[in-house]
Amino acid sequence: MSIDGRDLKFPKYVWEAPVRIWHWVMALAMVVLCVTGYFIGSPLPSVPGEASDSYLMGYMRFAHFAAAYVFTVMLLMRAYWAIVGNKFSREMFLVPLYVFQPSWWRSFFRVLGHYLFIRRENDWHYGHNQLAMAAMFGMYLLGSVFMIVTGFALYGEGTGMGSWQHSLFSSWVIPLFGQSQDVHTYHHLGMWYLVWFTIVHLYFVIREDITSGLTVVSSMIGGWRDIKN
Ligand code: HEM
Ligand code: HEM
Repeated sequence: MSIDGRDLKFPKYVWEAPVRIWHWVMALAMVVLCVTGYFIGSPLPSVPGEASDSYLMGYMRFAHFAAAYVFTVMLLMRAYWAIVGNKFSREMFLVPLYVFQPSWWRSFFRVLGHYLFIRRENDWHYGHNQLAMAAMFGMYLLGSVFMIVTGFALYGEGTGMGSWQHSLFSSWVIPLFGQSQDVHTYHHLGMWYLVWFTIVHLYFVIREDITSGLTVVSSMIGGWRDIKN
């Protein structure tokens, strides 16, 4: 294969249906988690009317926890798919041992150069480019696992000692961070880490869709990567 990938054969089926469905369900769950999580951290100063008629924060927390279960179960199912799915479904889960290969860094800096407007053309890939793959692992995957671990540690405080959430998470995560408020703070900061990933992700998928000459956004809808006419 040439270094710029111009000799790759297209169209190529890249994102299988479970990966595509997973992607959009997770994106939706994350929006619900960010909006409700934001209000859990910064509740509205007042809600009009009789206090016992209102359950606003209760519904917010319910939506947060329901989306949290969807988020967690879907990530576990996605990990299973990385084992049985095609090789592109594994890219996000690859522990970045590739950083020990000099050729990986050469490709990485070529992509970075394109992202920084130093190189006009980007290299072609079937799946993720080097920078995307590292971000998917380091930002999205590790960030999501962090949110699940800290989230269930906070949840276990409500379900109480003896519950699986408390035994599996709260019992060690809360002492590790210090106390409950510290876990709240790091869980909150984790949200901004994932929001940052998402903004950069949206910028690049749309930018690459316009400039790379390959299908990008539509590849996460139909599954195929192709050369644009
Ligand atoms: C993308 C994933 C998630 C995001 C962006 C997110 C965001 C947030 C934010 C911003 C808060 C407020 C923290 C504070 O300032 O006190 C919060 C609270 C909380 N989150 Fe999450 N969260 C996520 C995943 C989860 C998961 C997987 C669980 C597991 C059940 C969870 C459970 C909780 C709990 C129990 C609280 C505290 C609720 C309360 O004190 O009333 N979160 N979340
Ligand atoms: C909360 C919002 C979002 C999150 C957290 C997110 C996360 C991700 C993740 C983790 C992947 C890697 C999938 C894998 O390797 O299995 C991915 C790929 C992708 N996402 Fe998103 N996504 C979000 C929203 C969107 C939106 C709104 C679009 C479309 C405009 C989009 C378009 C894509 C595309 C096209 C890919 C494949 C990229 C490639 O070809 O290299 N995403 N996204």
